[in-house]
Amino acid sequence: MRTPLQPCLKTLALILIWVFFLPGTARAIHVETQEGLSPLQAADYIHSIIEANRTIYSEVIVERLGVTLNLAATENWEAEDTLLLPAQFLLESARLSNAKGVGMTYRLMSLWPINPKNGPQNDYEKDGLNEINLNPSKPYTRVVTTNGKRIFHAIYPDKGVVKACMACHNNHPKSPRKDFKLGDVMGGILISFPLEKSRSGDPREQTLVAPEVVSDYIHAVLESDRTVYAEKIVHRLQQKNIAFASENWWEDNSLLLPAQFLLDASDLIISKRSDLDFKLISLWPLNPHNGPANEFERKGLEYVARHPIRPFIGASSVGGRTYFQAVYPDFAVNQSCVNCHNNHPNSKKRDFAVNDVMGGIVLTFPTK
Ligand code: HEC
Ligand code: HEC
Repeated sequence: MRTPLQPCLKTLALILIWVFFLPGTARAIHVETQEGLSPLQAADYIHSIIEANRTIYSEVIVERLGVTLNLAATENWEAEDTLLLPAQFLLESARLSNAKGVGMTYRLMSLWPINPKNGPQNDYEKDGLNEINLNPSKPYTRVVTTNGKRIFHAIYPDKGVVKACMACHNNHPKSPRKDFKLGDVMGGILISFPLEKSRSGDPREQTLVAPEVVSDYIHAVLESDRTVYAEKIVHRLQQKNIAFASENWWEDNSLLLPAQFLLDASDLIISKRSDLDFKLISLWPLNPHNGPANEFERKGLEYVARHPIRPFIGASSVGGRTYFQAVYPDFAVNQSCVNCHNNHPNSKKRDFAVNDVMGGIVLTFPTK
């Protein structure tokens, strides 16, 4: 028998569901947009990748191969079949990354530029370069409003990390400064990205940057560095029979594999106690350690293989901290990727073609 209470209970249940779940969802979305990283933290992550790749390229490629293979780094690398200068490696990668249109751009500059294009272009760039020269322990930051858009800028010192830096700059005919010493600040790396509208009304307010946006910025740099290394170093030098990439690059006096170049950068960043982590994985790994380590990574790899446009995004909680995670597709950018993987004795897939998704880059960092 139906009591009059039943429809009431039903309505009440519906209201309860509405009260607890719908606004709950709305609340969760609201909280997510409030959540994010400070612009400085975002810039620190981006800079750590640029710097790690720059250091590895300078030390492990330019310095080592200069000695072991007598392979020089020269300004006219294309015509002379040599290595790109460290600055050119960064400029090529910045050009690729800036062209992706993710909103973040970066460039290398100096108060004493060999190439006048790399000089400061306005007052805050000049102020920033002066400031990091006097105080290189922290980056110079500034929020600048142009045409109603708020842009965050951070300038990090670029130091002469190896003797080759000074040897070349001090002796270069176009260099306005000839007394650089090891460890000197030689210039700066400028990182810029837009900020949301200020909440407080203060145009200089450093509003938070959403994790998925920071992740796209970090990935843009990683992918560009990886592409420049794979194209301009590995693929070009292999095709010309000048140098080869091998797993035992140290013993073989050869080039690091593209995967090793990326992983060395990751190790270097972790060794600096950063909590940013990234790795390269695949459903068909040559090294079994590079298979998916959990359900998230497996789903992510399957997703990017089917939808290579957007990353697969998730979050995990470890020891009371929340981490943002994303899997981005990793593409066979040229025939060298394909040939080596298809013909490798450990290969589980032998029909890769250029532009196929060969695996994924997993990015992890904590959100506040
Ligand atoms: C073999 C010569 C050579 C070496 C080695 C070299 N550079 Fe440069 N560097 C150049 C040239 C040439 C440019 C200008 C590139 C361009 O934009 O055309 C440059 C550009 C730069 C710039 C941008 C400002 C400018 O001078 O145009 C900075 C900063 C810089 N280098 C720092 C370094 C550091 C740090 C190292 C060592 C990790 C280094 N360079 C190694 C030749 C060299
Ligand atoms: C000269 C051979 C060679 C070339 C060229 C090469 N790879 Fe690899 N790649 C390897 C080896 C070997 C590993 C395993 C490294 C390790 O032990 O972690 C690897 C690892 C990987 C992984 C991680 C999963 C796995 O297979 O272990 C991906 C993804 C990958 N490479 C993609 C690429 C892409 C994309 C390119 C071109 C940009 C490329 N590789 C170029 C040999 C190569």
